[in-house]
Amino acid sequence: MSGFSIYWLDLREPADISGRDKGLAQKALLALRDEHRALAPRLAVDLGAGTGSTLRALLDLGGDDIIWRLVDLDGALLDEALLRHGQDFVIEDHQADLSVVEELPLSGARLVTASALFDLASQEFLERLCERIAAQGTGLYAALNYDGTTQWQPTHALDAQVLDAFNRDQRRDKGFGQALGPDATRALQLALEPRGYNVQIATSPWQLDGSNAELVTALINGIAEAVQETVDKEALAQWREFRLAHANSGTCIVGHTDLLALPDTGAKT
Ligand SMILES: C[S@@+](CC[C@H](N)C(=O)[O-])C[C@H]1O[C@@H](n2cnc3c(N)ncnc32)[C@H](O)[C@@H]1O
Repeated sequence: MSGFSIYWLDLREPADISGRDKGLAQKALLALRDEHRALAPRLAVDLGAGTGSTLRALLDLGGDDIIWRLVDLDGALLDEALLRHGQDFVIEDHQADLSVVEELPLSGARLVTASALFDLASQEFLERLCERIAAQGTGLYAALNYDGTTQWQPTHALDAQVLDAFNRDQRRDKGFGQALGPDATRALQLALEPRGYNVQIATSPWQLDGSNAELVTALINGIAEAVQETVDKEALAQWREFRLAHANSGTCIVGHTDLLALPDTGAKT
């Protein structure tokens, strides 16, 4: 168990799918199909795979010819991924702690992928992972990294304070050492460009309204819980009540970014 329930991952997936930058996702698929590497299988290694959201996102774009190696600490999430896709895809599942970077099963990968993962990770993890993928010349597609912005409509006087406290909580240790939180995409770029990668970044915001009321409600409750030690109790209770009252009628944009890093071969992408 990792603390990420199937319920929560299913709840966020529609917002992830519509937020994900389709142009970068298509380029990730192209990298997986790179015919210069025709002898190697079209293998993607998805880190922190959960129930297989990256597989589904690329499948929506026509990626039905990819072989997947799904890596996660949580065996129940991997079992769910196999249940959903094991009949239709060649899937290897690896239950492993990502923080043991040296033992990650990356060999043979055309592309390493991840979604909603790197904001949980630490700078040290990121450096060690980038070292490994650079050593084998593998690309990285890292989608849906939280960027530290959240815009609510209607606004509330406590929004900025709550966001500030939430972003501090985002930097707590999530199992890898101090988390990068909103700095994840920039940190990946800074780690990969000097290692000879061509890095492309695009925004992938959640754009939520009344049709996402269940997700918005879970988000409000999650934020309130995360900041309860650092924001005045009474003011926070009022903020939460106001936000919940507008879950059906208001809007919320949560900023994310996607990154695609491919070894720079001089070819245009
Ligand atoms: C926010 S969820 C994202 C899951 C999936 N990629 C998605 O987008 O739905 C983060 C995932 O990382 C996994 N995870 C977190 N820490 C991990 C670790 N140290 N080792 C392996 N997996 C980990 C969790 O089990 C979870 O599946």
